[in-house]
Amino acid sequence: MALVDCDPLMRVTWTDPVTGKHGYLVVHSLVAGLATGGTRMRAGCTLSEVEDLARGMAFKTAIFDLPVGGAKGGIDCDPKDPQAREVLRRFVQAMRPWIDAHWVTAEDLGVPQHLIDDVFADLGLDQSYHAAIRRSADPEFTLSRVNAGLHSPVPGGYQLGDVVGGYGVAQSCLGVVAARDWTPGETTVAIQGVGTMGGGAAWYLHEAGLKVIAVADAAGALYDPDGLDIPTLLELRDRYGEIDRSQLPADIERLPRQAVLGIEADVLIPAAVSYAITPANAGDVSAQFVIEAANAATTPEAEAILAARNIPVIPDFVANAGAAAWAWWLLLGRVDADPVLSFSVLRQEMLAKIPPLIEAWNSDRATPRATALRLADRQTQYLRAAEADGELLVTIP
Ligand SMILES: NC(=O)c1ccc[n+]([C@@H]2O[C@H](COP(=O)([O-])OP(=O)(O)OC[C@H]3O[C@@H](n4cnc5c(N)ncnc54)[C@H](O)[C@@H]3O)[C@@H](O)[C@H]2O)c1
Repeated sequence: MALVDCDPLMRVTWTDPVTGKHGYLVVHSLVAGLATGGTRMRAGCTLSEVEDLARGMAFKTAIFDLPVGGAKGGIDCDPKDPQAREVLRRFVQAMRPWIDAHWVTAEDLGVPQHLIDDVFADLGLDQSYHAAIRRSADPEFTLSRVNAGLHSPVPGGYQLGDVVGGYGVAQSCLGVVAARDWTPGETTVAIQGVGTMGGGAAWYLHEAGLKVIAVADAAGALYDPDGLDIPTLLELRDRYGEIDRSQLPADIERLPRQAVLGIEADVLIPAAVSYAITPANAGDVSAQFVIEAANAATTPEAEAILAARNIPVIPDFVANAGAAAWAWWLLLGRVDADPVLSFSVLRQEMLAKIPPLIEAWNSDRATPRATALRLADRQTQYLRAAEADGELLVTIP
């Protein structure tokens, strides 16, 4: 059975005994007994959303040739709720059997990496990659490499682990720019969301000389057709990824948050919520390309509308997979605390993945998602065959 058609291996629904809020863990697939995927928190999060995201994680690990299956955690709670941290702690505690043995989790929407690591520490666990770290021949050594990589300082005052996913999104965008033969300095970008993924993508695209002309956070959209001063705007963010409006330069136009989807830019990067582009608003999209930094950013129906309008979508499981791939390269020792090495490996891997998707679109209008799914499926068959033959040996150094 193709990866895309599989039912998940396991779905867990948890009820918080204190608040009655619900949390979900979906393990789509295990490879060598492990699955990976972040934990998100948002009011209204559902089991079917977490199921979609877990499946997406399985595609990401397949397409990046990582020896691990896909999973996801989700909690139906507003991350600004005063009880949010305790709800997350109780969720992690309840998922301990999976967290100890099989599920490697990390940050996601509404849950930054430092928060999930703090919660793991509360429970006496080293770090959110615990299930993989404890398999290592030398867990202490692996843990110190993981921590050194996550916290390695990078320009802008950031830490590598916080920006590497956005860097990968920026590279996928630069892959599109190169494939289309666009001039970076004349290429315009609109980004929905300026948290971990959207903020990182904005930073590296701005650094590469592209014009980021619009960004949105939960409070609204900001627009400047000449290009926004991204470093200044990112400085004004709070811990929820919202920009302080009281300190905004006066010449920035303020728009309703949904307006970012209709901005006339070469590239639109949804980097906030899932299901951002739906049939109701797909007709508003004015970009030539959509690059999904957010997971499940475009519904299938909306993607069909965009394809009919000649707007291809680079799917989440390629465009934003840098975050997951990098975490595994760090666990497996392919990268370390050196940001130059991490950026170089991710750039090469991402730039190699974009051209086949665009060639298939140009030659026979195969959507990038369809092409990428075919590649992910092929890789999954290899992994399953290797596992069945007992040849899949995953060594974490
Ligand atoms: N963090 C990761 O490592 C990672 C990796 C891969 C994919 N993703 C995906 O990227 C997306 C964003 O995750 P994140 O970690 O950057 O989240 P985050 O919580 O750090 O930031 C979210 C951003 O989106 C904004 N936002 C929220 N609702 C909005 C709305 N309706 N309209 C406009 N802006 C809105 C917030 O204000 C904030 O700027 C999610 O879909 C997540 O699954 C995250």
